[in-house]
Amino acid sequence: MDDLFEKNRKWAERIKESDPDFFLNLSKRQNPEYLWVGCSDSRVPANEIVDMPPGTMFVHRNIANVVVHTDLNCMSVIQYAVEVLKVKHIIVCGHYGCGGIQTAMENKEHGLIDNWLGNIKDLYRCHRTRIDALQSEKERINLLCELNVLEQATNICRTTIVQSVWKSGEELAVHGWIYNIEDGTLKDLNMRRERLSACDAPVRQD
Ligand code: CO
Repeated sequence: MDDLFEKNRKWAERIKESDPDFFLNLSKRQNPEYLWVGCSDSRVPANEIVDMPPGTMFVHRNIANVVVHTDLNCMSVIQYAVEVLKVKHIIVCGHYGCGGIQTAMENKEHGLIDNWLGNIKDLYRCHRTRIDALQSEKERINLLCELNVLEQATNICRTTIVQSVWKSGEELAVHGWIYNIEDGTLKDLNMRRERLSACDAPVRQD
């Protein structure tokens, strides 16, 4: 483990060389513009793939970037990011070849994780005809990876937290992106939501 501390020391020195007060300024407050909700996969590190320094992104990651309304952890992150930090953008970023998605599509038992992946199994059931029509397993997994991003971003739009912001007329956009682990590029799935919509029912718009 020693080399991790060594790498950390060099990393901090490198940053201080170009900006001596970088850490001092950041220690006073954080002011991120983005909330990133992504997969725990080690190949999809939030800040690194968009080349952003510390202090710019508030991050929540879990297996297969799932947003469940009863998940106190995820909801607390969203609430803090939106209400206290006042982020302007929430990005749900999935990735192709997601092991969580692949596992959810398998008809096998994996223990505890199956409870978490049940959310994705439900989504697979909803889109089964379209997904199963694809030729290769890779295509089927990747389509569900995309559909999962859209589903989880929609779940964010449905939270009372985001709904309240939109009702008050404040600025907040929800985006759905996907990352290609084969070439390091991001793709926008063109889901940008900035206001209340009928599909967020049953919240009343008054
Ligand atoms: Co993943």
